[in-house]
Amino acid sequence: MTTEQKEDIIVKARGVTKVYTMGAEKIHALRGIDLDVRRGEYLSILGPSGSGKSTFFNMVGGLDRPTEGNVEVDGCCLRELNQKQLAWVRCHKMGYIFQSFNLIMTMTALENVALPRIFAGESPSEARDAAADILKTVGLGHRLTHLPSQVSGGQQQRIAIARALVNKPSIVLADEPTGNLDLHTGEEIINLLGELKSKLGITIITATHDMKMLSASDTVVWIKDGRADRVARKGEFEIAIGTIDGKTLA
Ligand SMILES: Nc1ncnc2c1ncn2[C@@H]1O[C@H](COP(=O)(O)OP(=O)(O)O)[C@@H](O)[C@H]1O
Ligand SMILES: [Mg+2]
Repeated sequence: MTTEQKEDIIVKARGVTKVYTMGAEKIHALRGIDLDVRRGEYLSILGPSGSGKSTFFNMVGGLDRPTEGNVEVDGCCLRELNQKQLAWVRCHKMGYIFQSFNLIMTMTALENVALPRIFAGESPSEARDAAADILKTVGLGHRLTHLPSQVSGGQQQRIAIARALVNKPSIVLADEPTGNLDLHTGEEIINLLGELKSKLGITIITATHDMKMLSASDTVVWIKDGRADRVARKGEFEIAIGTIDGKTLA
């Protein structure tokens, strides 16, 4: 790989295929995805439910392995890593955000966010200091000791964003981060992710089935039946209220 490619392309997916075997049935979730993600961009994957978005996320995030094909992250070929190396990449290079927040409900905001740093080997007091800093960055400096049940859905997602960022990842993967939020709160979360991308210089890859959630995107990739159907850069796609999955609603 040349130096120039290393600087520009942070995720390189080639021929990524995933077949789930369920008894006698084979489900072709991904049918050969080729995709380059540029360092520092906000890339949205748009596609209807069942089109393979989460499956693709699992491959890029090192949470599952493709049946065929390969994913390179930051010049590192995920297929060649053993479980321990993959765990290191997940802990230090990636941040994950999910539709249902996935917070630990018995832990405070601060404790939830400190956890990845403790897993990375830091002392609890240093981990808590770093967690408090990043919670302030996402606008939750006044909610450090609240439990998830004591804050709103949008605030829970902000805690999850802080948790995704606390180990200073180079890539954040957000799988339908606005799926459980109302339109206004969803837009706030998207705008926050867009701001964090610029401020922290991270790459954001997000999945959505909602055209209204594309405002912060630099690139949009349409995924259909496990294939990348179309790629559009900023200015080449429209963010239209009243459209879903690219189709105008009557
Ligand atoms: N663990 C699994 N085992 C079997 N089939 C799965 C599994 N995960 C997803 N699928 C199937 O793969 C296809 C793609 O699913 P998914 O990636 O979750 O789509 P999306 O996130 O776009 O809704 C669907 O047909 C789904 O039912
Ligand atoms: Mg999904």
